[in-house]
Amino acid sequence: MTRRILIVGAGGFGRGVFGWLEGSPRHRFLHGIGDVAFLDDGAPAAPLLAPIVSTVRGYVPGPRDRVVCAVADPGVRRSLVDLLRGRGARFHTFVDDRAVLGQGVVVGTGAVVCPGVVVSAGARIGDHVQVNFNCSVGHDVVLGAFTTLSPSVNIMGEVQVGESAFFGGSAVVLPRLAVGAGAVVGAGATIRGGVAAGTTVVGSDGRVIAGSGERPVRAVRSS
Ligand SMILES: CC(C)(COP(=O)(O)OP(=O)(O)OC[C@H]1O[C@@H](n2cnc3c(N)ncnc32)[C@H](O)[C@@H]1OP(=O)(O)O)[C@@H](O)C(=O)NCCC(=O)NCCS
Repeated sequence: MTRRILIVGAGGFGRGVFGWLEGSPRHRFLHGIGDVAFLDDGAPAAPLLAPIVSTVRGYVPGPRDRVVCAVADPGVRRSLVDLLRGRGARFHTFVDDRAVLGQGVVVGTGAVVCPGVVVSAGARIGDHVQVNFNCSVGHDVVLGAFTTLSPSVNIMGEVQVGESAFFGGSAVVLPRLAVGAGAVVGAGATIRGGVAAGTTVVGSDGRVIAGSGERPVRAVRSS
């Protein structure tokens, strides 16, 4: 019995995941993937190459189904995963054939790792994390569950990121810093001093535009 993958969200990232799954024959073979379809509560904004087979709310898991949530917003993603888990859905972890994982890297359930990503040795990618294309994740980095890395983010070695953080495209985080849960890092930001939980920072100086702005302690491990 082949597996059916259901991508939650037929938006831009969901369509990307569909194409990357199609372009990952090794992954499809290893996981016995037959067909791929979408779950979405709305109509697609752009043409799809596979059907929307159900709304999220109306979805009833089938025995060969595995679900992967392709919604970029960490909070929305968490609530959809909670809803689906409550229905008994089982989750698929997708690592694109064109991603490179170092020794001892752990990728959590339901996570998505896109083409061109490089993850260095010992990094831990939490459940339902999204690592968009061309990101680099340094050695021994920890990414908390439901965190989102937009394209070309660079998280350097031993950085520790809490749950449900969001990084805009091309953001850079220097080594051994801590980024708290629910933090938002703006596109193109350079983080040199850690980010408190629930805080939004932007720019090359990590200017705080929302939240407390308190600096968290640095991650404790040394290189
Ligand atoms: C950080 C971010 C979430 C802030 O959004 P917001 O809360 O709506 O912020 P605003 O647009 O109201 O801007 C507030 C201030 O921050 C500045 N700012 C916002 N984003 C910035 C960024 N990425 N870099 C530098 N400054 C930024 C604005 O210029 C504004 O400055 P001002 O108060 O001096 O005028 C958003 O700008 C961002 O960078 N999102 C990431 C987008 C992205 O990469 N998506 C992935 C697509 S695949």
